[in-house]
Amino acid sequence: MVTPTARVLKRFYFIEREIILLQAGWLPGIEHWESKLLIPEMMWESSVLARELRNRVLELRFPERRITVDDEGPLLELVRRCGHSPNSIGAVLTLGEVIKPWLLEAYRRYCSIADLIGDGPTQFFLHHGIADLESQVARLEATAAAGLQAFPAQAEAAQAWCAAVKATFAALSPDLLLAESPPAPAIPAELLALERPFTIARKAVRDPRFRVLEFAWPDRHSPGNPGEGPQLQARQAVHHVNEVWAAEMAAACLYDLAPDAPHEFLDDAARWCYDEIRHCRMGYERLKAWGLKDDEIPLDAFSYDAGSEADSLVRLGIIFYFEATYIHTKSERKEIFGAMGDRLSSHDMDFDWADELIHTHYGKRWLGHFLESAGAGRSVATIKEEARQAVLRQQSRAAAGAKAATEDAARRVLARVLLAVGGEPTVR
Ligand SMILES: [Fe+2]
Ligand SMILES: [Fe+2]
Repeated sequence: MVTPTARVLKRFYFIEREIILLQAGWLPGIEHWESKLLIPEMMWESSVLARELRNRVLELRFPERRITVDDEGPLLELVRRCGHSPNSIGAVLTLGEVIKPWLLEAYRRYCSIADLIGDGPTQFFLHHGIADLESQVARLEATAAAGLQAFPAQAEAAQAWCAAVKATFAALSPDLLLAESPPAPAIPAELLALERPFTIARKAVRDPRFRVLEFAWPDRHSPGNPGEGPQLQARQAVHHVNEVWAAEMAAACLYDLAPDAPHEFLDDAARWCYDEIRHCRMGYERLKAWGLKDDEIPLDAFSYDAGSEADSLVRLGIIFYFEATYIHTKSERKEIFGAMGDRLSSHDMDFDWADELIHTHYGKRWLGHFLESAGAGRSVATIKEEARQAVLRQQSRAAAGAKAATEDAARRVLARVLLAVGGEPTVR
């Protein structure tokens, strides 16, 4: 019947939201590169499903427009607790081995008993959700295995945590998610003993297998002529791979602000995060295609860390500030790279530009919204100025030798790019 169906779908919706928040919260604190690249894509897929679930609940309850947690609290608390992993490898491992398979099984069971005619719209989008989850579980399995291998020091605690979460969920059959009354799971002492209360990383963690620097490229500390030819190609690719910071900042904004924001903010922030990791992947693939190994690729956390002492509105301001300042370079470089015959970089810039146009809309819309609801008299201009000051402060904190290390890394990248594309270096 409609009422119990709406109840179950509402439960699914809130579980998806919790899992999105868990992933967003962990993103900046994840060391393992492959996991860092995977999480935003999964978050976005989950957000698409969450939006469908929410819309369907509203349809089934029309004209009621409110969706509240009600007595689903204990179940959601358990899902939230799965984020209290002692380390990031454990968080990724648990997502792939326990949480996502558990939800996948619940969706499969729902589809097996739901009415294809009466509840057809739910069947339609839940089948897409199932396909996404099947793919996510397979990708997580491979990624978590690689993470355990790359970070063996985390393995023992990660596996113990995953085993404790698995034992907890073994008592929580996916069938219980289909019941009219919500399950009220107990949180076992074994889980409490292993958990480390979660806090989001305000300084982003980088995979040490890369060339980790305070400034990924010299223009981070000394903005100037971007150069031309291979220099511009190299610089753009390094900036692209370093957009990992923007994915982390979007995730942090989601984690901080979504719980009290309209649902559409979660939609937009998840998409924003996914787009930025796609830009990061553009750079990564470009550099790899030129023959660079991971340890030759400069990575920093500069722009994310600039927000470490700021509040969530200024963090949103930092990402907005960067987007608005550099958006013109996208279409310009699409033309420049195209004219140079670098079709891949030109293609990347074109798609990047399309995304950035949406992001400036997100930035304006949500900064405006949060300033109106909790801005305490601040304006877009004051937030932008605070964001700019935060970036300048971060620049001024550089350790001795940081700039020289950046120059050295940039020289090496350029040499590799020149080797791949041919040509002489130009003076910056
Ligand atoms: Fe971007
Ligand atoms: Fe962007």
